[in-house]
Amino acid sequence: MIRSALLALCAGLFAAALPARADVPPPPKSLVLYTQRHYQFDETLQKMFQEKTGIRVDVVKAGADELIARLQEEGDKTEADLFMTADGGGLEKAKQAGLLQPHAEVVLSRVPDTLRDPEGHWVALTKRARVIVYSPERVKPGELSTYEDLADPKWRGRLVVRSSANAYNQSLLATFIAANGAEAAGAWATAVRKNMARPPQGSDRDQIRAVAAGLADVAISNTYYLGLLETSEDPKDREAAAAVKIFFPNQEGRGTHINISGAGIVKGSKKTAEAQAFLEFLLSDEIQTMIASETFEYPVVESAAWSAVQTRWGKFKADAVPLAALANHNAEAVRLFNLAGWE
Ligand SMILES: [Fe+2]
Repeated sequence: MIRSALLALCAGLFAAALPARADVPPPPKSLVLYTQRHYQFDETLQKMFQEKTGIRVDVVKAGADELIARLQEEGDKTEADLFMTADGGGLEKAKQAGLLQPHAEVVLSRVPDTLRDPEGHWVALTKRARVIVYSPERVKPGELSTYEDLADPKWRGRLVVRSSANAYNQSLLATFIAANGAEAAGAWATAVRKNMARPPQGSDRDQIRAVAAGLADVAISNTYYLGLLETSEDPKDREAAAAVKIFFPNQEGRGTHINISGAGIVKGSKKTAEAQAFLEFLLSDEIQTMIASETFEYPVVESAAWSAVQTRWGKFKADAVPLAALANHNAEAVRLFNLAGWE
């Protein structure tokens, strides 16, 4: 027994001392992605990336705050290479917590200055606009103007929007604070809550469905959810999409609120080359154009094409407030939503 164990040990040491044989394939390359995104098309993109590069993407899905807490706990021992969110606020929070690292110019240069961290710790991968969706039967486009106007009593009982626990609403209110101050933002949240046709519930898609069903006349939603309903396999979704229209608010002033989905390479990553390769893949013209036509999020690369649906919605002026405002005013936004009773 002892002899065979010794022999095995010697054989092991001997093998370890030998250079790798040419016919032994290297271990498969991979990277670990911590992501808040919950879109089916992301899996297709990960498979395409693996086919192209041989790099497998192992995914951990959770909320942004949960993933940030996990990264903090794991520190340098983390397995994570890339942190991805569906909201710019989460990315900036991770950066401010010292969890991300600067990216190479080859990645940063793909994205306009306004859609990446000035210190290069994160980049946007897609852009989204948070707009007003309305019933053209019950609302004339001339009655719509700004987010601010949704506080007007003329909308009493006519508006639906999802819960304030959602990052999209928190980031919207954060930019409202940046533009108008905290006091005005609090008053706005209180008045909008009073105008709601029902307590906040469901997803952005459910708000669009509520307008289509006549439960409300206006909703706040990200644009791509309308694209997804329009192209859904479910005829009820397609009917709902056909019953509403999109309005881009604040075109005369600061512009429509935009948010991003984006990513940053994790500080403790041991596979920065793989992580960077994945970002380069996602920011290629080809994949950006594909994202626009599959998820209806806007591309961040200027040479990528919009989908036919987005072209029909039309061009719009986007709010130019730096995306760091989403994180910097997040705690205040949450506090104001609670004070307003916006569940
Ligand atoms: Fe979303």
